[in-house]
Amino acid sequence: MRDPLIDSSVTLGVTGSIACYKAADLASRLVRAGAKLDVIMTEGALRFLNPITFAAITHRPVVTSLFDPQSELAMDHVALARRSDVIIVAPASADALAKAAWGFAGDALSATLLAAEAPVIFAPAMDANMYDNAATQENVSRLVSRGVVIAGPEEGRLASGLIGRGRMLEPAALVDHVRIALSRHGDLAGRKVVVSAGGTQEPMDPVRVVTNRSSGKMGFAVARAARDRGASVVVVSAPTALPAPTGIDVLRVETALEMMDAVNAQCEDADVLVMAAAVADWRPSGAADRKLKKGTARSLTVEMMRNPDIVASVRKDIVKVGFAAETEDVIENAHGKLVDKELDLVAANDVTSADVGFGSDTNRVVLMDRDGGVMELGLLDKYEVGHHILDKVARML
Ligand code: CTP
Repeated sequence: MRDPLIDSSVTLGVTGSIACYKAADLASRLVRAGAKLDVIMTEGALRFLNPITFAAITHRPVVTSLFDPQSELAMDHVALARRSDVIIVAPASADALAKAAWGFAGDALSATLLAAEAPVIFAPAMDANMYDNAATQENVSRLVSRGVVIAGPEEGRLASGLIGRGRMLEPAALVDHVRIALSRHGDLAGRKVVVSAGGTQEPMDPVRVVTNRSSGKMGFAVARAARDRGASVVVVSAPTALPAPTGIDVLRVETALEMMDAVNAQCEDADVLVMAAAVADWRPSGAADRKLKKGTARSLTVEMMRNPDIVASVRKDIVKVGFAAETEDVIENAHGKLVDKELDLVAANDVTSADVGFGSDTNRVVLMDRDGGVMELGLLDKYEVGHHILDKVARML
C-alpha cells in the first residue's frame, strides 16, 4: 500500500475567489502525486482563470457548464459524482458553501456535489466578515453535520489587505486532506499509532544541551505513511525544525525522560509504537540551573548518567517497532536490540553511508522480525520506508 493518491479519481471544484491561482498549484500537486483529476470551474472561477490552465495540468477537458454539449456532463450529468473517490472544492466561496448547504443543483459543481457519495472537502476562501457571518457559519455547520470536511480557512492576510480568518489553506495541506479522505478505509483504519521522532536534548545548564544529529525526518515520514493508511497518529517529537503534518498530533518534548512519560501515556490506548527517535543514552547528571561560566578553567569534565530505555518501558501487548542506527556489524547489533528490547520489528541502518545519513530524505534499511524474517530494502524515500514497515505491522495486528 502506497500513497493513496496513486490512481485515485479526484474531482476539484474551483469557485470564484482570488485564491483561484492556488487551485492551479493544488491541481498540479494532485496530478504529480498520481491522481486522475477532473476539474469543474464555476462561472465565478471563469472570471479569475482560463480553463486552459487546468486542461494543461490535468490533460483532460475541464467542465465549465452543465449544458455544454461538448462536456461529458451533457450526456451524463452525474458522471463525475459517480467516478470520484473524493471531491475537493478549493477555493470554496461563500456562495459555493451556501449552494451545497441548501442542496442547489443548477450548475455543474452543485449538481455533482448533490449526487456524490464520495467524501467531500471544502477549502473556504473569502473575506473574514463573510466567513464569520452567521449565514456562512450556519451553512458550514450544516455541511459538517452531514460529514463534509471543512479544511481551514486560516488566519492571515486577505485580498482586502486586512488580517483575518478567511485565507485558503496552502495547497500542500489540502493535498494531505485529500489523502486522509481517501484512506478512511485503509488497513490501519481505527488503529492508533504512536511514533517518536527527533533527537532528544539533554540539558547541561540553561543554555547548553547534549544532543545528536537526528533530524526527525524518518519518524515524521512513518507518521505520514500511517495517517495515509487510515490510522490516527500521534508523534512524540524531540526538537526538530519540522512542522506538524496535516491531520497528525505532534507533542513536543525535549529530554529522554519527558519523551518516556509522553510515549507511555500515549501508548495506553495505542495499537502500535514506532520508536524512530534517537534517544540520548546519557544525560548530564544534575543540570546546573545557572549558566556554567568558563572562568580560567582549561578543561571541563561532565559526568553523565544513564537514561532509561523508553521502548523497553512500554506495555508489551502492542506492536513495537524500533530502529537501530549502527556504524558497524549492522545485522548482529540490530538483532541484539530486537531481542533485548522485545521488539516485534527492527529497522536497521548503517548511518555512515552518505545517502542515508542524518537529515537525508532517503534511507536504506534492513527489516528484521522476531521470526527471523530479514528484508533488505534498497535506497528509498523515507515515506516509502515507512510504508514497508507498516506493511509488516498491519500483518502483525
Ligand atoms: N531507544 C529507546 N530508549 C533509549 C535508547 C534507545 O527507546 N534510551 C530506542 C530507539 O528509539 C530505537 C532503539 O531503541 O528504536 C535502538 O536505539 P539505538 O540508539 O540504535 O540503540 P541503543 O539502545 O541506544 O544502543 P547503542 O547506543 O548501544 O547502539
